[in-house]
Amino acid sequence: MTQSLTIRRPDDWHVHLRDGAMLEAVARHTARQFARAIIMPNLTPPVTNVEAAKAYRARIMAALGEGSDFTPLMTCYLTDGIDPAEIERGYAEGVFAACKLYPAHATTNSAHGVTDIRALTGVLETLQRIGMPLLIHGEVTDKTVDIFDREAVFVERTLAPLTRDYPALKIVLEHITTAEAAAFVTDADHPIAATITPQHLMINRNALFDGGLRPHAYCLPVLKRETHRLAVRAAAVSGSPRFFLGTDSAPHVVGAKESGCGCAGIFNAPFALEAYLSVFDEEGALARFEGFASEHGARFYGLPLNEGTVTLVREDVVVPDRIGEGDASVVPFLAGATLGWRFKG
Ligand code: DOR
Ligand code: ZN
Repeated sequence: MTQSLTIRRPDDWHVHLRDGAMLEAVARHTARQFARAIIMPNLTPPVTNVEAAKAYRARIMAALGEGSDFTPLMTCYLTDGIDPAEIERGYAEGVFAACKLYPAHATTNSAHGVTDIRALTGVLETLQRIGMPLLIHGEVTDKTVDIFDREAVFVERTLAPLTRDYPALKIVLEHITTAEAAAFVTDADHPIAATITPQHLMINRNALFDGGLRPHAYCLPVLKRETHRLAVRAAAVSGSPRFFLGTDSAPHVVGAKESGCGCAGIFNAPFALEAYLSVFDEEGALARFEGFASEHGARFYGLPLNEGTVTLVREDVVVPDRIGEGDASVVPFLAGATLGWRFKG
């Protein structure tokens, strides 16, 4: 049995680092495991221009302290009125790595998101022309659509026409959760890829109701039934360059989760690699882990692969019940569970 795995330094292609006290508390967990990360822009107010992205990037680096070699890759939050010229300038200056499309009201801090994707013509034409990736939260917001179907309906109603209308637009369908999304990304004759979270690989919707309501298993897109988890797992370990690591680590303070209206989001950054690797191990796919964690994403974004390596060893590690203190105390994904791999750095 393989006792130790050394891979090229990985990247996280989807993470929420937040701001203020929470940023101070969580940034180091991502920077400990990953060389780079795509930073979600859904702050209050959202990151919608170059100056805001530069300032946020500086706050992230300040939170990490002197000497950090972590690279935050900033994203621009798309709104109905956003100026394509600002996006193009940010990309040309190396500030923006991608744009993020939140359908308005789809998830946390998405109130300023896009109400009608057809209103984005100028932006989409610009992204297609300059080769800048469009990252999509792929759920319809139509309240008449069952919440467990919102991703599959988005694929059919919005994503399929989008790929037809913009045949060269680079798209990352974020945090996929369904067999429909995995199949679309696998089969599309289009430059499209998908990120996959640890939670959508490891647990299904039963986890939300395991002996009672489980707010710490609640994220969006919501966990799906077992058949979908298995389809997403198969995609992740398939070796296809269209699937890569994106934790969607999304911390909320305990009080905001354990509430009458708990926030969506799972904080998985502290043990992200251990969690992913346990899945690849269970699937007999250790040899494909490096591609998923350290190669496919960079190639899709057109960025160089990282130098250096990280090592994980086959050793039990217990996930603590809480991480951080006081105002920034968060319950991590898999709190109290034992994982069979340990990150050594
Ligand atoms: O569960 C989620 N949490 N899904 C998202 O799309 C946003 C995120 C957050 O920012 O908390
Ligand atoms: Zn997210």
